[in-house]
Amino acid sequence: MAFFTHQITRTLCSSAVRNAAIKHVTVIGGGLMGSGIAQVAAVTGHSVVLVDTSEDILKNSAKNIQGSLKRVVKKKFADKPEAGEEFVQKVMNNISTSTDAASVVQKTDLVVEAIVENLKVKQALFSTLDKVAPAHTIFVSNTSSLPIADIASSTARLDRFGGLHFFNPVPMMKLVEVIKAAGTSQQTFDALLDFTKALGKHPVSSHLIQHCFSLRTLQASLLSGFMNEVCHGSKEDIDVAMKLGAGYPMGPFELLDYVGLDTSKFIIDGWYEKEPENPLFAPSPLLNKLVAEGKLGKKTGEGFYKYK
Ligand code: CAA
Ligand code: NAD
Repeated sequence: MAFFTHQITRTLCSSAVRNAAIKHVTVIGGGLMGSGIAQVAAVTGHSVVLVDTSEDILKNSAKNIQGSLKRVVKKKFADKPEAGEEFVQKVMNNISTSTDAASVVQKTDLVVEAIVENLKVKQALFSTLDKVAPAHTIFVSNTSSLPIADIASSTARLDRFGGLHFFNPVPMMKLVEVIKAAGTSQQTFDALLDFTKALGKHPVSSHLIQHCFSLRTLQASLLSGFMNEVCHGSKEDIDVAMKLGAGYPMGPFELLDYVGLDTSKFIIDGWYEKEPENPLFAPSPLLNKLVAEGKLGKKTGEGFYKYK
């Protein structure tokens, strides 16, 4: 028991965090990504405030974080269920919630934005927060596809603005793209690299390859969707083929459902707007139909597939 208690304490309050520039983190957006980012930051001893637009959404975020932590604990504390419960409780104690971003950022070292993939909405949020956050606070976006410099342009802290592109599901995926925009200072970039490492993640520095991974993943997924519509193949066959023949952990349609079809559509529509001549970004009628019907993937219980 003593060993586990020690281990928990080490995970939750490492000296790395005590001495780090970033101790208090505000995560804006309690959806798929924001919940995951809040979880990994809390597990590694950071004080976290999770912000969304309503208490109901935040209750759901807390439920999802607890669900994910229980899956972690089931393996990590297989023989010590009580220590597992203690771990979950300690992590949850590191997270508070709020519907008022402007008031909570006044005490924060880092704002991680994980809201809807829409440039104007992100700019409006950061423009408001820029006026109330302390001078030292670093802003980052978890955007999948938007240029960080475009989002940062809504603020007067270009040197303290960067990108942290986490991957879904955040508690499982080790990679984080750390994005240095033209205005990002070296000090900010170094603090973001340190923060990513403190989360136990593997950072890759991203200048030229910004969003390369989401681009490739979603391109591959859409290409298969395109094939499906044109060749009348079945999505199940394509998913099985990619898993058993190419070693993918999920088939492309499963992955689109997992990422969220609304988010996938926002990303693809944005790319299409920039490169309308590129056939890979051509709008997919099937994707558009599902989104219009509110079938957004796993998070709503139905997308390309149905979920219980
Ligand atoms: N939280 C905690 N633990 C989790 C978890 C989560 N959210 N998801 C999976 N696990 C762990 C659990 O221990 C789980 O075991 P239990 O079911 O007994 O709890 C174990 O992993 C195995 O999980 P699954 O049986 O559900 O399935 P799996 O073996 O296929 O692993 C996966 C799940 C890690 C998600 C794997 O399918 C995978 O890697 N899929 C591809 C994900 C991917 O490509 N992500 C990138 C998306 S693109 C992106 O993120 C960028 C963008 O901008 C859009
Ligand atoms: P999501 O739809 O699951 O969650 C977004 C959350 O933001 C919702 O709970 C919504 O209520 C909240 N929100 C919207 N506007 C807000 C505002 N002004 N203030 C506070 N909260 C607000 O979306 P997601 O999948 O978590 O994606 C979030 C961001 O992360 C997007 O930029 C997306 O491109 C990026 N991303 C997504 C994935 C993925 O696989 N889903 C992977 C990497 C990056």
